[in-house]
Amino acid sequence: MAAKATTTRESAGTVTLTVDATGESFTLPLHRGSVGPTVFDIRKLYAETGMFTFDPAFMSTASCESRITFIDGEQGLLLYRGYPIEELAEHSNFMEVTHLLLYGELPTKRELDALTNNITGHTMIHEQLTQLFRGFRRDAHPMAIMVGVVGAMSAFYHDHHDIYDSGERMIAALRLIAKIPTIAAMAYKYSIGQPFVYPRNDLGYAENFLHMMFSVPAEEYVVNPVLARAIDDIFILHADHEQNASTSTVRLAGSSGANPFACIAAGIACLWGPAHGGANEAVLSMLGEIGSRDRIPEFIARAKDKDDPFRLMGFGHRVYKNFDPRANVLRTRAHEVLETLGIRDDQLLDLAMELERIALEDEYFVKRRLYPNIDFYSGIILQAMGIPPSLFTVLFAIARTVGWCAQWAEMMGDPSQKIGRPRQLYTGEPQRPYVPIDQR
Ligand code: SDX
Repeated sequence: MAAKATTTRESAGTVTLTVDATGESFTLPLHRGSVGPTVFDIRKLYAETGMFTFDPAFMSTASCESRITFIDGEQGLLLYRGYPIEELAEHSNFMEVTHLLLYGELPTKRELDALTNNITGHTMIHEQLTQLFRGFRRDAHPMAIMVGVVGAMSAFYHDHHDIYDSGERMIAALRLIAKIPTIAAMAYKYSIGQPFVYPRNDLGYAENFLHMMFSVPAEEYVVNPVLARAIDDIFILHADHEQNASTSTVRLAGSSGANPFACIAAGIACLWGPAHGGANEAVLSMLGEIGSRDRIPEFIARAKDKDDPFRLMGFGHRVYKNFDPRANVLRTRAHEVLETLGIRDDQLLDLAMELERIALEDEYFVKRRLYPNIDFYSGIILQAMGIPPSLFTVLFAIARTVGWCAQWAEMMGDPSQKIGRPRQLYTGEPQRPYVPIDQR
C-alpha cells in the first residue's frame, strides 16, 4: 500500500541576508513542515551569491524533506509516521512498525499478514553467500562480516531491481529486511564455530532470529517468549531515527543510484562507529572497566577532562537535549527482562543506574544537557539475554535496516532527487607551479 500523501511543506515567507562588507542583500524562501523547525531554502544561494553555507557536521542543516520520523530533542519526542515511540513499544510489534515505516500507515490484519508472509518467504540467503563467511577469521568482528556479506548481496541481486520503480524498490527492501537477521545469526554462529542454523517459516521475526542464534542440531531449542518480546521491542526502538549518520550515509550512497544492498552495507559500516551504533558495545566495555561503584567518580572525572579522550559511552546526543525516550523505555524493560530471567541484583544494571544518577546530578552533564541515550541500557538487556557484546551493534543494524530502507525508498521516490554532492571551504594552497625535484 503506498503511503497516503500527507502534509507537504508550505511557505513561511522569506528571510533576507545582507553582506555587511558589500551591502548586498539576498532573499531566501522559508519553508515550514507539519511540525519542527522552519528551514531556509538555500538551494539557489550559490547561484545567486557565489557563496556556500558552512556546516561541517550538519549541526544546523536539513539534508532532505521526509515524512517518516520526527524527533523533538527539547521535548524528548520520537514519532514514527506520527505515532509516539512509547506507544508503539507498548502496543505494537516489529512487523507492524516495519509496515508503518515502509508504507506510512499501521497495517490492517490482512496487510500485516501479507507483509509477514512476504518477509518470512525470503529469510534464506543464496547458498553461495554462505561460503563468503569462510573467508573471515573466526575472530572477525561480526560487524565486519555484516558489511562484507550484505555488500556481497549486491552481486547476487545486482540487476534484479529497477530501483526507479516503487514496486521493485519495495521488493529489494523486503529482501534485505528478511535476510539481515539470517546473515547476523550466521555471523555469530561462524564466530563460535557452530553450524549455521537455517530460518524457520513457522516462527515470527524475533523468534526466528533467536532460533538461528541459539539453536543447535543436537537438541530441541524452544524460544523463550519473554526474550522474543524483548528482542521485538529492541527492534522497534532501533528501527529509525530521522537523518542520523548511518541513514545519511545510506541516502548519500543511494543518491548516486547505487545498488540498495551496497547502500545498506555502507549504512552498516557507518553505524559501527562508537560515536553511533557502536556505543552499545562500548557501554558494556566501559561498565566492565569501571567495575564497581567506588570507581564511578574517577570515570566521571575522566569524561569531563578535555585532555582525556574518554567519553561516557551511552551519554549525550546530537538531537536529544532532554531524555532519549527510547532510553526510558529500555530502562523499564531492563528491569522487566532481568526480573523475568530471575536475575536479581544484576551488577551491571546497578552500576549503570548509579552512574546515571551521579552523572545527572553533575553540573558538567547538566549544563551540556547530556542524558542517557538508547545505547546506555540496550547492552545490559542484551547481555542478560545471552547476546554477546560483539553482536549488540549487529542487532542495531538488523532493526535499522527497516529505517534505512524506508528512507532510501523515500529518497528514490522523490522526483526532485539528485546526487548528493556537498562543496567545501578550501583553506589549502592557492594555485602554484610545479617545482622540479632538484629545485626543492
Ligand atoms: C546513537 O544521531 C542519532 O540519532 C544517533 C542514534 C540513532 O538512533 O541513530 O540516536 C544512535 O548514535 C546514539 C549516540 C551513541 N553515542 C554515544 O553514546 C557515544 C558518547 N556520546 C558522544 O560521543 C556524543 O554525545 C555524541 C556523539 C552522541 C553527540 O556528539 P555531539 O552532538 O557532536 O556533541 P559534542 O561532541 O559537540 O558535545 C557537546 C559537549 C562537548 O563538551 P564542550 O566542548 O562543550 O566542553 O558535550 C561533551 C563534549 O565534550 N560531551 C560529552 C559526551 N557527549 C558530549 N562529554 C562526556 N561524555 C559524553 N558522552
